[in-house]
Amino acid sequence: MEPTITAIDATLGATITDVDLADLDEATWNRVEEAFHEYALLVFPGQDLTDDAQVGFAGRFGDFELLRPDSDAKAVSISNQKPDGSVFKPEEHRYQTLRGNEGWHTDSSYMPLAAKASVLSAQVVPPAGGETEWADMRAAYDALDKDRKGRIDDLSAYHSLYQSQAKIGHIVETGAGYGYHTKGAPLRPLVKTHPVTGRKSLFIGRHAYRIPGLDDAEAQELSGDLLAFACQPPRTYAHDWRPGDAILWDNRCVLHRARPYDYRQARIMRHTRIAGDPASELATTGRDERASGFAPSASNR
Ligand code: OGA
Ligand code: MN
Repeated sequence: MEPTITAIDATLGATITDVDLADLDEATWNRVEEAFHEYALLVFPGQDLTDDAQVGFAGRFGDFELLRPDSDAKAVSISNQKPDGSVFKPEEHRYQTLRGNEGWHTDSSYMPLAAKASVLSAQVVPPAGGETEWADMRAAYDALDKDRKGRIDDLSAYHSLYQSQAKIGHIVETGAGYGYHTKGAPLRPLVKTHPVTGRKSLFIGRHAYRIPGLDDAEAQELSGDLLAFACQPPRTYAHDWRPGDAILWDNRCVLHRARPYDYRQARIMRHTRIAGDPASELATTGRDERASGFAPSASNR
């Protein structure tokens, strides 16, 4: 079976059909990997992957990043529903984490080693809303004018999950879970060169909170302007999920966010995350005093 690869009408993304991700031969895998580098976002409708099949597919891309410190599960549930069937309430930590996902981000930019790729599949979807949206940071960088490029080429930003959660009013104490166990914050260049394609992209998003050399207000304004410019058509794609769909994206050059929905309805997704390569995704970790939960940045208070 030859896979059918159909480009999405945006600067990123392709839909791949006539493929069974649970049973990839070598030639098909090579086509998928090649498409991943070209399109950065691959939509596989109706795969109905089991846990094991999703882990098997994701594992072809590299080492897993384990998101639950207390378990070695490679696939984790991203869900607003508890095991007893009730849903998380606004005052609960997990609810706030899910709301946080509604801001443009790239996975694990707040960790010393940022993610390479993520695979997300839909198990249960709400009747309305709850789409996921992606934005192409390669095309966004390319579309910046020369002055803008010149202004950001040598800038870097600190990334912190404490700070991004604080932006939505969720003040988290140090050690509260995955991503909240660091004292230093990774410092990452605003412009990232892709380790495989060599293309430059904007590396920004909600976790970025301070830019050395700029004061907080300037940094906030620059980040906001860049995000607003970057995350708009033709650089975006929103996917309206059906249970069984699986989507893979390249965290090194794509931002994503969840779209809101009625949180009284269940939404259950399965997530598998592939670790970055230390040669290209490991950040220098600075001892920024505002990286931990106890001291939100002035602009977040
Ligand atoms: C993720 C994520 C968004 C969504 O899985 O990393 O941000 O739509 N998900 O659930
Ligand atoms: Mn995410």
